[in-house]
Order: sequence, then structure tokens, then C-alpha cells
Amino acid sequence: MSTGDKPVRLGILLSGRGSNFLAIAESIRTGRLPGVQVAVVISNVAESAGLAKAREMGLASALFVSRGRKRAEHDADVTACLKAHGVDLVCLAGYMRLLSPEFVAEFRNRILNIHPSLLPAFPGLDAQEQAFHYGVKITGCTVHFVDEHLDHGVIVVQRAIPVLESDDAHSLAGRILVEEHVAYTEAIARVVSGEYEIQGRRYVKRTVLAQD
Ligand code: GAR
Repeated sequence: MSTGDKPVRLGILLSGRGSNFLAIAESIRTGRLPGVQVAVVISNVAESAGLAKAREMGLASALFVSRGRKRAEHDADVTACLKAHGVDLVCLAGYMRLLSPEFVAEFRNRILNIHPSLLPAFPGLDAQEQAFHYGVKITGCTVHFVDEHLDHGVIVVQRAIPVLESDDAHSLAGRILVEEHVAYTEAIARVVSGEYEIQGRRYVKRTVLAQD
């Protein structure tokens, strides 16, 4: 992704707690994502703690309550807000709502999502519990580009952890969350670096041809 010399402007979409958003904000504050800034934080849930945090931090924020609204209409409002804030890269951070095809098309290959499993295993809700009850020995998290299908787009970063015998679904989710916070920053850094490209389903370093 290239924005020339201009900073890359993130639009964060969330529905709840917002710990992934806070991890991204902390990475920016501590210089781990140079040239990146949060342009706006948008929530679809009035009570979301992440939205309250964004307000406290003095960041631009917006609330578009989605309950009871048609997906396309709600998404049109969110899209307009992202555009008004000059957003280059949309980061879904616990945004518990499917995006309309129009939204995905508007920001093609410029929407990231984080999911608490090693996709394509355990898409959908409660991925950590799904993994725990399935009995896998290794799980983790995935940051991927968003396409028209649920938890499906090209994978940017994955981080794996073992499932311990002492785990329950709650402790497992907690240990995955620690990895999520690292993975999201890694993924944003890859995308804004301009050093990677999509080849089929693979996100790989561009090959630099040797000059003779
Ligand atoms: C995170 O575990 C994230 O991976 C998950 O919601 C949680 C949000 O936490 N997202 C999904 O399950 C999306 N399918 P946060 O609000 O503290 O970032």
C-alpha cells in the first residue's frame, strides 16, 4: 500500500472491549508503526468500551448503531465516514458484523480483520471455544484481508500457541489475545511497508529483480 510521503490513515471498526484497537494505538505511540496514524474509530454498539476509550484519548470517533438497520444502509454510513476521514486502511478489531459486498468492494484489499483461530479452522463466532472443544493441540490467531466470505480472505499474519492441558476455554482465549495484539501490529506493518504482494491466496514478499 502506498500513500507516498503521507501518513497511512487507519479507520478502526469495533463493537466491544477494544483491546486490539488499544494495542494498535500503543504500537503507534511507541514508534512500532512509523508513518501510521488512527484517523477515526467507529463502533456499531453504543456501549462499546473501545469507543469510550477512543473518546477519552481524544481520537476522532463515530457511532453508527447497526441493530435493526439494513446492512447496506448502515455500511453506506460507515463508508462515508471512513472516506470523510481520509482512511487508507480499515482495521476490523472485534467488529462483530458482516460487511456488505459494496463495503468490501469500496476498500478492496484495504480491510484487515483479526480472528482468534488459525484459519481456515474455526471461522465464525466463539472460535476459541470451538478450538478448545474440538481438542486441537495448537491454535492461535489470524490477521487477514477481508473478502466477501466470512473469515476467508488472504492471510497476512498468523501466530500459533499450544493448547495446554491446564487450559480451559477462557484461559486459552486470554493467551490467544496476547498473540492477537502482536499479530495485528505485524500485519499492519507488512501492509504499509509496500514490500508484500498478493499472489493468488498467498501474501508474500515482492521479488526484487537484480539489476545488471
Ligand atoms: C478478539 O478476540 C477478536 O479476535 C475477536 O473478537 C475479540 C475482540 O476483542 N474477533 C472475532 O471473533 C471476529 N470474528 P477486543 O475488542 O478486545 O479487540
